[in-house]
Amino acid sequence: YSIIPLPNEIEDRQGSVVLSGEVKVSLPENERARGVCSYLGDHLKRAGVTLLPVEAGASGETIRLAVCDTLPSEAYELEVGDGKILLRSNADGAGFFYGVQSLLQLIPSDYYTDGAPVPDRLEIPAVRIKDRPRFGYRGAMIDVGRNFMPKEFVMKFIDQMAAYKMNRLHFHLTDDQGWRIEIKKYPRLTEVGSKRSGTLIGHSDYYWPERFDSIPRSGYYTQEDIKEIVRYAEERFVTVIPEIEMPGHASAALAAYPELSCGLGKDYAVRQSWGIFKEIFCPTERTITFLEDVLSEVIELFPSHYIHIGGDECPKDAWKACPRCQALIRKEGLKNEEELQSWFIHRIEAFVNSKGRDIIGWDEILEGGLAPNATVMSWRGETGGISAARQRHDVIMSPSRYCYYDHYQEDPEYAPMEISGFLPLDTAYAYDPVPLELTPEERLHIIGPQANVWGEFIQTPEYLEYMAFPRLLAMSEVQWTNPDRKDFEDFTHRLADEFKRLDYNKVNACRNFYEVNFEGSWNAASGRYEVAMKTFCPGMEIRYALNDSAEANLKGRYTSPIALDETATVYAAAYLDGKRLGKITRKTFAVNLATGCDYTSVPKAGWEHLNEGFGLTDGVRGYPIQMRRWISFYEDTVRIDVRLREPSEIREVAFASLWKPRNMIWPARYAKVFVSEDGKRYRQVDERVLAYDFTRTEATRFPVSLTFEPRKAAFVRVEIGSGGLCPEGQPGEGTQSELALDEIEIR
Ligand code: ACM
Ligand code: ZN
Repeated sequence: YSIIPLPNEIEDRQGSVVLSGEVKVSLPENERARGVCSYLGDHLKRAGVTLLPVEAGASGETIRLAVCDTLPSEAYELEVGDGKILLRSNADGAGFFYGVQSLLQLIPSDYYTDGAPVPDRLEIPAVRIKDRPRFGYRGAMIDVGRNFMPKEFVMKFIDQMAAYKMNRLHFHLTDDQGWRIEIKKYPRLTEVGSKRSGTLIGHSDYYWPERFDSIPRSGYYTQEDIKEIVRYAEERFVTVIPEIEMPGHASAALAAYPELSCGLGKDYAVRQSWGIFKEIFCPTERTITFLEDVLSEVIELFPSHYIHIGGDECPKDAWKACPRCQALIRKEGLKNEEELQSWFIHRIEAFVNSKGRDIIGWDEILEGGLAPNATVMSWRGETGGISAARQRHDVIMSPSRYCYYDHYQEDPEYAPMEISGFLPLDTAYAYDPVPLELTPEERLHIIGPQANVWGEFIQTPEYLEYMAFPRLLAMSEVQWTNPDRKDFEDFTHRLADEFKRLDYNKVNACRNFYEVNFEGSWNAASGRYEVAMKTFCPGMEIRYALNDSAEANLKGRYTSPIALDETATVYAAAYLDGKRLGKITRKTFAVNLATGCDYTSVPKAGWEHLNEGFGLTDGVRGYPIQMRRWISFYEDTVRIDVRLREPSEIREVAFASLWKPRNMIWPARYAKVFVSEDGKRYRQVDERVLAYDFTRTEATRFPVSLTFEPRKAAFVRVEIGSGGLCPEGQPGEGTQSELALDEIEIR
């Protein structure tokens, strides 16, 4: 049985039920059951199976859907065996739909293998399943504000969500870079707000000055499109929750209607770059009327009980400078701008409540006091969610570390560009959304987790799929399966099967599942640096080579970690039945006398993104695309003392520092090397003043090597002068720059 998410009770049975040709089905008097049956029929057609409705108990009846009122909502019972398939749900019908999803996954995955002969009969293994979800809220968010996604793609995404029993699509419809929903009363929202004439290239901190393309981008959903999407989702038991961002992330709306802003005296424009913008809605009666009008149309279009009103990342600069905002603060007796935001959210909530709906807001809505009926979506970790649950508010957990599927899922050094972070499949799978510090009663307020696919760097549907899959399947199991039944290893076996179906459905899932990931570490026992290689997909054969990327030369067969005694690039690929299913991956390990050695630094690192305390000698060099590997210091001078494993003769000390002027990161301006035999008395052996090519316009890793006459050393000290104050005309001008270092190499 290869079902994702794993059912909560599953019992083996012997035998199977074969479906072929005309298959007789009986249905209860239930509209949803009829809908589910026709959905099932569509999925069996390819094998020539047609479903023929009959009375319950009629001769030849093979499939029976039956209402069982004692089953909770969304629960189902599926029995396959003795020539029959029996599926039970309560009258709301969701259980029928989820039972059918499990049934479809019981079909051997060859049915879903592209190019395999189409079978004319489907053999379903006998089984008994009793299943119900752990959480009632099982969400995924797509961000079409940053980059518009066609309606057809949204529906395809809903199909995939539904296949994994997810039931809430959070539709992020508005942002600084685009307004994506037609509002009849305010046509400029889409006439102006859905279009931009260019977009930032790369990360905002990578090219400096920033680079922009001049490709016009636009797109929005008409109200008819929205109705179609909502209907399509509803047929699949997915509720679409619209998000209209306020009071921040509102540049596109303000470009259309600048009179709704505080009037900072700037041009309001649909933004072409990413980040947080100071231009926000001014909470006047006029703005509130506008937002109520917008929400009225939105509420009319979306039957969802929840309406998401955003509330995140809202700087208060404009409100601080705005006479109208300040007058409002005084009039309402508010303490500050945070309370003004809270006042504003309360107003909006009262309106949404008056329409019989409830709001969801990002966890910033906690600041200045939570609106009485608000549900909190906790994204800056779980702290906001915990605080809200303690205040007896419902919570959706979506902490970025586990749930932000805009983070890298394969080695960021080589992966297609993403925003930042590192969230591989096993981390996504490991998430448990119920914090242990909550009491049992408070825990009931955690209504479920959600995956968020933010769209800054996602310009096409294929790319969105690459980011979302297969992590979304891991999320489905976080959402559905009880924690005592979750098991990553078992999940990977089922995922290997499920990949066939993803391929068959032309879902462009990330294939890192079939690729080799490397992990280098110093092995104190063997006294050598070792590189472990693994794939998430079980049962793969790993072939590798050192310093040679040609596939034909991947002659090493990996069985256990390989030892490296000098710097090398490892190339590897994984094979299943002799076939390579992913790309050849690589990683360079800098192995030298310092590798794996203890070191101390003065000052201590201000920010270690990874491998705290040994990141400078962990054998992996930092790279400019992402900060993960770098060790940062914030003072003028840094002293690093490396204790060699044994006294050695040395002739080179190398390191690299990073240049990322946009982030006030400047490279080292000098370096000095000292040696010591006892760790007390040091002698200087070399010194260099460093100069760089600052006419470059992209973030750069600047390597430095100091070589000298061979010296005996037990300890090596490197003194590194920071880049000093950020230069004139550059971000942070006149303030201390950040010094990001990696890796200290000694030979
Ligand atoms: C968010 O990621 N700004 C909710
Ligand atoms: Zn204002």
